[in-house]
Amino acid sequence: MFPEIARTLVTKEQIAGRVREMGQAVADDLRADLARDGHSELDEGRVVLVPIMTGAMIFAADLIREMPVKLSIGLVTVSSYPGQSVSSKGAKLASALPDDLAGKHVLVIDDILDSGQTLELVTRVIAEQGPASLRSIVLLNKTARRSVEFEADYVGFEIPDEFVVGYGLDYDGYYRNHPEIAVLDPASLGVGG
Ligand code: IMP
Ligand code: MG
Repeated sequence: MFPEIARTLVTKEQIAGRVREMGQAVADDLRADLARDGHSELDEGRVVLVPIMTGAMIFAADLIREMPVKLSIGLVTVSSYPGQSVSSKGAKLASALPDDLAGKHVLVIDDILDSGQTLELVTRVIAEQGPASLRSIVLLNKTARRSVEFEADYVGFEIPDEFVVGYGLDYDGYYRNHPEIAVLDPASLGVGG
């Protein structure tokens, strides 16, 4: 049986309010960085956002519209090693990262920080290019599941150790278009690991 949504964890209104706050906070920090560098916030090419596909698609789309800063976007796709839908088995880059991040102010965007493997990998590889600053933002944080040391600079919501879908997050590719963060019925999920 395909798992069904059991209940809502974060509503549309809560998401919209928090995304607005975070967009302003990140934009303020980036503008402060640019001022410190002696650059105008309108100078081109200084701020690059790196959303991790596919989960961060919807969060990134909403976040950038709350960020009044001149920015460009360089997508990266990260896939998990084959494993069950509800458990992370490690991350690998499935597309090339933008290769022109040296000296840039970079913000990596993901939907959720779970084991930490995805963001640890992406930020480690970007750091090798020598960006001027490197920050990360996640909508959701499941601190309980961390297997590698990693903390995001900006977190939308702390959530318990439950498998969630919606607002970009999927179960086997589905439910990304569900407009809220929802918990699947545990009885219909396979035994996770
Ligand atoms: P990490 O590498 O374990 O931190 O996991 C990050 C990735 O796993 C995220 O980008 C999501 O794509 C996926 N993920 C982790 N937890 C969940 C969840 O509860 N629902 C849906 N996807 C998840
Ligand atoms: Mg993901």
